[in-house]
Amino acid sequence: MNLPDKGRDAGELLTEIARLKEADLPVRGGRVTAYVYDTGRPEVHEAATRAYVEMLEVNTLDPTAFPSVVEMERQVVGAVADLLGGGTGIFTSGGTESIMLAVKAARDSRPVAGRPRMVVPVTAHPAFHKAAHYLGVVVDAVPVDPVTFRADAAAVEDAITGDTVLVVASAPSYPQGVMDPVEAIAAAASARGVLCHVDACVGGWLLPWLREAGAEIPPFDLSVRGVTSISCDLHKFGYSPKGASVVLFADPALRRAAYFASASWPGYTVINATVQSSKSAGPLGGAWATLQALGREGYLELGRTTLAAARRLREGVAAIGGLRVLGEPESSLVAFTSDEIDVFVLSDEARRRGWFLQPQLSYAGIPANIHITVTGVTLGGVEAMLEVIAESAAAARERGPAELPEGLVELVAELDLEALDDAAFGELAASVGVDLNGSGQPEMAVVNAVLDALPADRREAVLIRFLSVIYG
Ligand SMILES: Cc1ncc(COP(=O)(O)O)c(C=O)c1O
Repeated sequence: MNLPDKGRDAGELLTEIARLKEADLPVRGGRVTAYVYDTGRPEVHEAATRAYVEMLEVNTLDPTAFPSVVEMERQVVGAVADLLGGGTGIFTSGGTESIMLAVKAARDSRPVAGRPRMVVPVTAHPAFHKAAHYLGVVVDAVPVDPVTFRADAAAVEDAITGDTVLVVASAPSYPQGVMDPVEAIAAAASARGVLCHVDACVGGWLLPWLREAGAEIPPFDLSVRGVTSISCDLHKFGYSPKGASVVLFADPALRRAAYFASASWPGYTVINATVQSSKSAGPLGGAWATLQALGREGYLELGRTTLAAARRLREGVAAIGGLRVLGEPESSLVAFTSDEIDVFVLSDEARRRGWFLQPQLSYAGIPANIHITVTGVTLGGVEAMLEVIAESAAAARERGPAELPEGLVELVAELDLEALDDAAFGELAASVGVDLNGSGQPEMAVVNAVLDALPADRREAVLIRFLSVIYG
């Protein structure tokens, strides 16, 4: 990256951005079944973009300087509270930050004698591990049912100790899109005087609309006895631009425990509701505008089409020879696996055909699988998606499983990563055909197969090194 001697004009910069984005996956159109959420209604995204830009330079750091931020946040958080059983909340930058604040609130509002602990089902999002890592909390992970993939309330209850500050349930969990038994988990937590967070990051702004559209959705929000906080990402099924989530607390005192203030320096007073301090109000403006542009009717219609697409997808995948859907997802997340076909090869085959299907590694007895997030735009292309899955499955069957060079897994498992610099790591990857500086359509099956064969701590070490190498 060079800083030019002379400034360049905006047109030239936008041309360059377009060139930089050439190898990116498309964010619209429904062929990318993870990371992006598309209503299929360009005018809604256009309204959000304009509002985002309008609020871009406003700094949420000081609500007294920019009262628009307070009013907008009240409206956005209020809309989420209306949908999810009340409470008071905070607008955050995403699911991870919402979860971070819920964990901080639990830790600080419930001092314990030992190190604070948190009970999470193994299917809970890594944001809980990250929050625990940052906040000095110990994670007690408990298994889920091997058939339904739902958390086992009795196992959660058994894992609660005198130092447990928080118990977690997901609505739904991301990997298989299934609902944990929120009522039973919250009741167990409450009986022991422990707080309970429901991670509805992916489901909070989806499940109520699916329910209204006819799906059977068990109770999961703040109206459930014992649920003390809940997270809901607007940048997922709220269809807002990225940087938009809400965390709600049943008790205002718990929200105060998430806040931070500092007067311990000679500068301006610092009052932060979130992890970030100076922060653009763009995402708040984008979320506010998306909610307003879609309204109840818009979300309900999206709920209907999403439900229809998810049902068709589940049924269509189950009808493809050799594939099976994992669990019985109530939401619009669908994961499928195979005992006969290498799903990582299937994912590569789909990518060749212009579709991104997200691979998930095996973990805690749950097999490697492919994860699809069904959104508002999916229904129009669901038959084409099923065709691509069927063709990719046939091609993957024909190709057979990814072939790993002899001894590669053992080599990576035993590699002393500390003794290896980034250049040597890059060379090692290149020796097995992985170009870490390449772009376009990487063949990931070998990489995924190697990662899949490693224990989690090894996977993490390799992934961190990968990040370090690609950023150079
Ligand atoms: C259930 C769940 N929780 C938390 C998160 C983390 O959200 P974010 O990526 O916005 O930090 C996700 C993301 O997919 C999720 O699915």
